[in-house]
Amino acid sequence: MVEFDPRTPNLARMYDYMLGGVTNYAVDREATDRLAELVPQAVPLARVNRGFQQRAVRHLAASGVRQFLDLGSGLPTQGSVHQVVPDARVVYVDRDPVVAEHATALLRDESRAAFVQADLLDAAGVLERAAAFLDLGRPVGVLLISILHFIPDTDGDTGGHARDGTGGHASGDTGGHPRDGTGGHARGDTGGLTSGGVRGPHAAVAALREAVAPGSHLVLTHSTSPGRAKPAAGRGTARPPARIRSFFGDFTLVEPGLVHAADWRPDRPRLVGEPSTASYLMAGVGWKTRPRQV
Ligand SMILES: C[S@@+](CC[C@H](N)C(=O)[O-])C[C@H]1O[C@@H](n2cnc3c(N)ncnc32)[C@H](O)[C@@H]1O
Repeated sequence: MVEFDPRTPNLARMYDYMLGGVTNYAVDREATDRLAELVPQAVPLARVNRGFQQRAVRHLAASGVRQFLDLGSGLPTQGSVHQVVPDARVVYVDRDPVVAEHATALLRDESRAAFVQADLLDAAGVLERAAAFLDLGRPVGVLLISILHFIPDTDGDTGGHARDGTGGHASGDTGGHPRDGTGGHARGDTGGLTSGGVRGPHAAVAALREAVAPGSHLVLTHSTSPGRAKPAAGRGTARPPARIRSFFGDFTLVEPGLVHAADWRPDRPRLVGEPSTASYLMAGVGWKTRPRQV
């Protein structure tokens, strides 16, 4: 049980407030209002981000995907995946214990959605626990929405093949329902490790790509910078588009490719004079093609 400190704002609750939600406290609203004064694009960007997520999730649902793994989910509110595709099974994952506490309560009555407290960098552990709720032998929509720019590169993290060649794909009994939110780590943890033993975001995402079934999709948003990877405002790593593209590995990007989030299959044309808020946020959807029949 997490003790909430009413004086400490929480990123996920601030995010909920930015999206118009009610799972937040005065301290979160005040911190968000201060942030919006300093960075006027923060709130519009959060909404562009959520809008992209919803369009991408609807695209996957239209392609037949009915299982989702939402990594760095924040709070499952305000048009989250299980609300957009009610007949899907969804596992939300976040490492933040405050998120875990709220999310577990928010999902208590949901039979098709569960929460797992875990770190993306432990990709094998994430997959093992998700496998208690999802059938990883079937296509999964893997969401990495505004999470990767919070995880800095580590030396040698090229995103090469995971050490065990399975990406930590679970087999058989995983020993527990993911709703327990215990954040336990998998035995024989290889997720997020390259063959050189380096742990980092590229290796973790490579392990996920390798583990999921053909027909699975990777959906991500990421803040960008025109030059080299560098610290973004606050705690984060804005990466150049080519580095963001590399998270998709050999997955095939669906049209229109990796673009500014507002430009990914927009619901409506941009109005004349409407400001573009999303030039710092790249978005894309890639899918794992099925092996060719011989
Ligand atoms: C900006 S919020 C994004 C929430 C949601 N995906 C969205 O875009 O609406 C980023 C979330 O990523 C989580 N996070 C950051 N690093 C993580 C990691 N290594 N593993 C799991 N979650 C992480 C944070 O706790 C936070 O809730």
